Amino acid sequence: MSAPNKSYDPVEVEALKPEEIERMRDEALAAFAAAGDLDALTHAKTAHTSGTSPLALANREIGALPPQAKAEAGKRVGQARAAVNKALAARQAELEDERDARVLTEEAVDVTLPYDRTPAGARHPLTTFMERVADVFVAMGYEIAEGPEVEAEWFNFDALNFLPDHPARQMQDTFFVRSAEDRTGHPDSATEGESGVVLRTHTSPVQARTLLERKPPVYVVCPGRVYRTDELDATHTPVFHQIELLAVDEGLTMADLKGTLDHMVQALFGADLRTRLRPNYFPFTEPSAEMDMVCYVCRGASVGNPDRPCRTCGSEGWIELGGCGMVNPHVLTACGVDPQKYSGFAFGFGIERMLMFRHNIEDMRDMVEGDVRFTRPFGMEI
Ligand code: PHE
Repeated sequence: MSAPNKSYDPVEVEALKPEEIERMRDEALAAFAAAGDLDALTHAKTAHTSGTSPLALANREIGALPPQAKAEAGKRVGQARAAVNKALAARQAELEDERDARVLTEEAVDVTLPYDRTPAGARHPLTTFMERVADVFVAMGYEIAEGPEVEAEWFNFDALNFLPDHPARQMQDTFFVRSAEDRTGHPDSATEGESGVVLRTHTSPVQARTLLERKPPVYVVCPGRVYRTDELDATHTPVFHQIELLAVDEGLTMADLKGTLDHMVQALFGADLRTRLRPNYFPFTEPSAEMDMVCYVCRGASVGNPDRPCRTCGSEGWIELGGCGMVNPHVLTACGVDPQKYSGFAFGFGIERMLMFRHNIEDMRDMVEGDVRFTRPFGMEI
């Protein structure tokens, strides 16, 4: 601090001369303007507003002035400091805005970039669809029944009224399992067909197993894997899935079968879809029928209408779902059920086929090759 000013003239104090104060103020303003970022501004702030800044030091000199001069000098320094603080705040706000804008662009996330998160697995669409079909029946009070895939020939054929010379027993349809004594591996020793054990060719053996296990009334649905000696191509696979339904109770008729089929088709494909039955033959049902549903895409409009072809039904208007019928009394008898008292209906159809036309899948091989590009569009249902 300078010594008291004898002449009482504030301009005598160097630091309080108006042009000095202006210079200090202008230097501060210039320093703030020159600060290119918030760090630089913090330095400029310390240099020009702290207790040791030129203006703060000048302010202290005021105390040494004679009373008459204090007011004027105080006002001048005060105005300069106010201008400096205002400029500092303005620059501070400006630099903060700049920083925020920069952070927004620099830290923006490009949602179109490929991500490397490990994808979650999902069950195969065949499995989830098969469960969805089974659920339609579970909701009506049916129970799930299961049987082995390696099956006794008796269950697969005999109990189901297949006569010994039925063509389905022949080698071209059925995978016979070699007997335990015959595992030498030598081709000449093969006795397939004599072991009495097959890979089940349909889920119908579960009908016989269920009837032997439970007393009527029986209402079961059996989803499962079946095997046939087909080559893998666009419409065949040697391993595929079926869903079987069996109802045995007093007084069941074909009307019950038809109503059940209608309900299933409407639950899976949409309301108002009709079904139809065409006569057919299965040894284990009598009468037997092939069951079709009206094409859920064109609803028959493509039939005889070349301008409106339908890929889903091949412009047939109908889609074949599978076989059905009233349980043959021979089967009831073979399984210890009195056909005088009880009657039943059954049907069975292929899940792959249903999935194919439900999702416009053109090649069955896509379903078995395990390529995630096929399964991914079905979603992550587990
Ligand atoms: N098991 C028969 C098949 O695989 C389908 C079927 C099941 C037919 C039940 C009638 C009754 O072709």
